[in-house]
Amino acid sequence: MQTDTMQPAKSSGTFRIGGDLPVVRLGYGAMRITGPGVWGPPKDPDEAIRVLRRAVDLGVNFIDTADSYGPYVSEELIHKALSPYPSDLVIATKAGFVRPGPSEWAPVGRPPYLRQEAEMSLRRLGVERLDLFQLHRVDPEVPLGDQLEAFVDLQREGKVRHIGLSEVSVAEIRAAQVTATIATVQNRYNLGYRAWESELELCEREGMGFIPWFPVGTGELARPDGPLARMAQELGITPAQLALAWLLRRSSVMLPIPGTSSVAHLEANVAAAAVELTDDQFEELSRIGQRHAQER
Ligand SMILES: NC(=O)c1ccc[n+]([C@@H]2O[C@H](COP(=O)([O-])OP(=O)(O)OC[C@H]3O[C@@H](n4cnc5c(N)ncnc54)[C@H](OP(=O)(O)O)[C@@H]3O)[C@@H](O)[C@H]2O)c1
Repeated sequence: MQTDTMQPAKSSGTFRIGGDLPVVRLGYGAMRITGPGVWGPPKDPDEAIRVLRRAVDLGVNFIDTADSYGPYVSEELIHKALSPYPSDLVIATKAGFVRPGPSEWAPVGRPPYLRQEAEMSLRRLGVERLDLFQLHRVDPEVPLGDQLEAFVDLQREGKVRHIGLSEVSVAEIRAAQVTATIATVQNRYNLGYRAWESELELCEREGMGFIPWFPVGTGELARPDGPLARMAQELGITPAQLALAWLLRRSSVMLPIPGTSSVAHLEANVAAAAVELTDDQFEELSRIGQRHAQER
């Protein structure tokens, strides 16, 4: 892969969401531009704005957010920092998780609520259509078909382009596909946490994007004394870059969205797009990840 020195994220290649919406595979997760416990405004709102603008400068054109990040703070900052939006920018948002307080999350999938949240995300982001609208969590108290039907109605009305799911099993993906065409699955996944391999393989078989959340293990895999430190030092790169390069290499449908509140970390993470791992390095990393998972 050739490195684009001006826009290094592009070295990660392109994936077409739903077959027709191209995104640069290494994206940005906008959950960390909020306050402690993903609640309220960030400590440094100016830096948050700089992070978002720098991400786009570096070639990132896939940004993941949710109504519940803040709540609302992340979407509002995206609008403030990036509107009017570059024509190729894809903002993926979500609904279906309410926030009783800091660090608290609860699924709510009643159709009128999901519709309200889509309408409010349209308003906050200042767009006419949500490029990718994801069901943040399946609400076990509401039939899955009803939750998806709300999304499909919005799609029919032109308010949603593609539909995604989050934290779902193969059985749930299959059940959702009865009602809707599913373009992406966003599940927790990283070098040291691979509980969703079957779901990733299903995405590969069916051309759905797989968006791994916690791609650097909330910073654990980025630690200078962490499990990837020795190998990163040998290769002259950072542990976070190694974790992200492994994800990009793991599958062509993988769309990592590392989150950060700092421009310095963003720049370092985006540089991972140009890291090419040999087969041996990939296998060694996979073994390190497995060992790390067992030790925890
Ligand atoms: N669907 C879901 O249920 C769900 C759940 C969680 C997250 N998400 C999405 O996934 C995205 C990614 O997850 P995440 O942000 O929670 O976890 P992450 O990307 O694995 O890690 C982010 C954490 O790691 C630190 N970090 C990032 N880059 C670093 C670097 N180069 N060196 C040192 N530390 C670094 C960040 O701190 P600094 O701010 O100091 O850089 C932050 O605390 C979120 O932003 C959100 O969009 C989705």
